[in-house]
Amino acid sequence: MNLSNDIYALIYLVASILFIFGLKGLASPKSAILGNTLAMTGMAIAVIATAIHPDVTSYWWTIAMAAGGIIGYVIAKKITMTSMPELVAAFHSLVGLAAVFIAVGTYFKDINLGHIEALTAVELSLGSAIGALTFSGSVIAFGKLKGTFKFPLFSSNPVKFPGQHFVNLIMILGIIGLCVYFSINSDSLEAFLILTAIAFILGVTMIIPIGGADMPVVVSMLNSYSGWAASATGFTLNNNLLILTGALVGSSGAILSYIMCKAMNRSFISVILGGFGGESADSSDDTQVKKNYKSAGSEDVAYMMENSSKVIIVPGYGMAVSQAQHTVKDLWQSLSDKGVEVKFAIHPVAGRMPGHMNVLLAEADIPYDVVLEMDEVNSEFPTYDVALIIGANDIVNPDALTNKSSPLYGMPILEVHKAMQVFICKRSMNAGYAGVDNSLFYYENASMVFGDAKQTIQTIVNAIKGTGH
Ligand code: TAP
Repeated sequence: MNLSNDIYALIYLVASILFIFGLKGLASPKSAILGNTLAMTGMAIAVIATAIHPDVTSYWWTIAMAAGGIIGYVIAKKITMTSMPELVAAFHSLVGLAAVFIAVGTYFKDINLGHIEALTAVELSLGSAIGALTFSGSVIAFGKLKGTFKFPLFSSNPVKFPGQHFVNLIMILGIIGLCVYFSINSDSLEAFLILTAIAFILGVTMIIPIGGADMPVVVSMLNSYSGWAASATGFTLNNNLLILTGALVGSSGAILSYIMCKAMNRSFISVILGGFGGESADSSDDTQVKKNYKSAGSEDVAYMMENSSKVIIVPGYGMAVSQAQHTVKDLWQSLSDKGVEVKFAIHPVAGRMPGHMNVLLAEADIPYDVVLEMDEVNSEFPTYDVALIIGANDIVNPDALTNKSSPLYGMPILEVHKAMQVFICKRSMNAGYAGVDNSLFYYENASMVFGDAKQTIQTIVNAIKGTGH
């Protein structure tokens, strides 16, 4: 369609504004659905405007794009919430590969027309290098998260070799050097291909030393890289919308990674450089000593809770694994019906992705006003008669506050141990994500409630409703 360039610029501007408001909406669970809708509307406008752009002379690629959209829709529908990080990693790898293809394609197109400008050479080398790094890094992250591939590079354990950081540094310097060389000798196919190849290798060597369980932070970082790759591609294609969208993804991904690192007490710089998180959690001191813990039955928990005036529920990764959120909603409802004040406490890195618990509780229609963030709830724990922990471990480990030798030391936690009575619902005494023993389990006021979260909570609900046995 022959609209003027100004009209296209205006349409792209509208799409960009919708993306920005979309991102803003995603900052809170209350506005997340609206945010998503705005961003999807922006994307629909952008896609339609691009499809009818006069530069598009054949619709075969549009059909291919629509097919890709349908495949993406089917996959997204099927994916479970706990597998979300690996899906995101897989999709990022495609963004990276697309950036490489566009850079290589543009190189050959321009070289056939005669000559490549120095500025174009900078854009091509940046797009290709970041894209290649994002692709191979995301493939490794996907393999590690999936955890079912036998290939050694996909091992969820850190894969290390001597001088790894030095080798990575040399490769980074090599890529920068070749980018500079290519911008001066912009017709040099060799320089362009070698820097792309090194970036592919760097993506692998940067991600393999990171343990599988630490991958979610890496995925968020790769999300940021994929945004910058898209942005560089936007410069190559002279597409303002792609530049802006890429920058939004790049910066929001970087901010998210920073927030996650802070909440997990990790160093941001070491994540960017790769190889963090390989520090194997040392639980030896604690596990050598056989300590005593108490255990309670579901009926005991039900009895205690229905005779309390204030109860706080702390969900964690185990609630997600057992998909217990709807049963937890029943528990909240049945206790509330009996006049017990029940609230939820959410740790920023509970589960395996940002907002994991908020999403699950929202899915179960638990009202937002009973869901408290860590900062607002921590000082209130002593006022709760009962705290029920459902499949959480690291985020309530008091060693993070007191034990300097613990790998968790310094990570802010939900100070659940200060509640009058604490029940911990999990299947065993096994460690959580960080691989360390939890001193809370041996506290005087703590009792273990062993079993799968969903089944245990269901038994508690039945006991409260008087339908048990
Ligand atoms: P974890 O420390 O991983 O503990 C989860 C516990 O759930 C496990 O100890 C496990 O014990 C239990 N569990 C597993 N399946 C269960 C089931 N079906 N029923 C009942 N319990 C079950 O989880 P958390 O406390 O939520 O902490 C999150 C951790 O992940 C933190 O260390 C955080 O740093 C890390 N992390 C989070 C993120 C984000 S962004 N959320 C990203 C990367 C890393 P049993 O095996 O004994 O049942």
